[in-house]
Amino acid sequence: METEQIKKLIKTAIRQLDFSYTPYSRFKVGAALLAENGQVYSGCNIENAAYTPTNCAERTAFFKAVSEGVVSFRAICIVGGKDGVLTEYAPPCGVCRQVMMEFCDPETFEVILAVDEETWQVYTLKEILPAGFGPGNLKKEG
Ligand code: THU
Repeated sequence: METEQIKKLIKTAIRQLDFSYTPYSRFKVGAALLAENGQVYSGCNIENAAYTPTNCAERTAFFKAVSEGVVSFRAICIVGGKDGVLTEYAPPCGVCRQVMMEFCDPETFEVILAVDEETWQVYTLKEILPAGFGPGNLKKEG
């Protein structure tokens, strides 16, 4: 992916930190999900007093897109930090990796972890979820 496109996604993800609802952990996460059609779906984490209903930023972005009929994706950019202060990478949790596995090709889908517009790392989904279980596994015969 081009550097300019990555920087754009980082900007969008950082903007999401303002909307992150985190009265319990105060750990703010922002995501920007690039669809194959060029549309970008943003997301933030949304916590809950009952804790388990909390939704991660990445899943917020995916569910916004899927709920609008968009199911093909190229990349997701993720930023996060305590009180929205970005000092290190915020890798996606296992549940979010599994949601990515549902909709994305693990060989080509890119997960961009960023701290600022100059500091980022790109992984494929396969690198961060090796030997993942996905829709293809249910299609196999036997
Ligand atoms: N969080 C995310 O938004 N994405 C992740 O992949 C890791 C965790 C959120 C959930 C919770 O609101 C806070 O970070 C602390 O776990």
